[in-house]
Amino acid sequence: MEFSGKTAIITGAASGMGLLSAQQLAARGARVALTDVNLEAAEAAAGDIRRQGGEAMAIAVDVRDYAQVKHAAERTLEKFGTIDILINCAGGASSRVFGCTGGFKDTDIGIIDWGIDVNLKGPVYFSHAVIGTMMEQKSGVIILMGSIEGVAGFGCVDYSAAKSGLMTGLTKSLARYGAPYGVRVCCVSPGPVLTRPAMAKMQTALGRAAEPEEVVDLILYLCSDKASFITGADFLIDGGRSCIA
Ligand SMILES: NC(=O)c1ccc[n+]([C@@H]2O[C@H](COP(=O)([O-])OP(=O)(O)OC[C@H]3O[C@@H](n4cnc5c(N)ncnc54)[C@H](O)[C@@H]3O)[C@@H](O)[C@H]2O)c1
Repeated sequence: MEFSGKTAIITGAASGMGLLSAQQLAARGARVALTDVNLEAAEAAAGDIRRQGGEAMAIAVDVRDYAQVKHAAERTLEKFGTIDILINCAGGASSRVFGCTGGFKDTDIGIIDWGIDVNLKGPVYFSHAVIGTMMEQKSGVIILMGSIEGVAGFGCVDYSAAKSGLMTGLTKSLARYGAPYGVRVCCVSPGPVLTRPAMAKMQTALGRAAEPEEVVDLILYLCSDKASFITGADFLIDGGRSCIA
């Protein structure tokens, strides 16, 4: 897969699968904008990519804030000239991020807001900020990150609700909207991924959690021209967790 001449914006690019997606795309020729709330880590990653001969910049963005999202899309277009790929990796289960031990009814509403805003509103905001450019270009790919939790609803309620919204409603409506203009939209929905060691404890039919590379390979395939006939689809990549849950 070759991405020379393409520009990618990646959210949540300071760590995990967002970071790996940015590194892999840059290694295959893409110009990458690494966006994250953690600017220091995004800057460090962009610097590493540049030292290896790639084109990268870091932008501080909280995906919950549309003004910041819009500004990031504008800066990317200004610096790199196109926006060909958007990968929405920023996200996470609010219960884990905030260390909630109580159940849904005892969770502070501010924490629930965070879960909906980062996991659902962020991808809606970023898609809105870039799709006009992609439509004008008559090409583009938007990747959403769902989760097995959006199908099975194992744990955190706001996380499952937000991921489910991405996997069906946003993927399909955006795919229908973008298709006449050559814009494809796909969702990648992992089971447990070893961006965190705790994920190793989760059961799957294959008896292990995924390496981040296994998920990022799928993301890159869907971003590439090899996937030119794929849009409006969600891809569960869960080692068979959904078969045994
Ligand atoms: N790791 C898993 O097992 C797993 C499973 C299913 C789905 N997912 C999904 O895949 C995506 C990536 O997961 P990961 O484990 O690689 O993530 P990660 O936790 O390693 O990275 C998430 C990144 O998002 C950033 N972020 C958090 N809030 C933000 C905000 N408001 N604005 C901008 N950036 C923000 C963080 O700073 C961090 O760099 C997430 O959407 C996650 O929900 C992960």
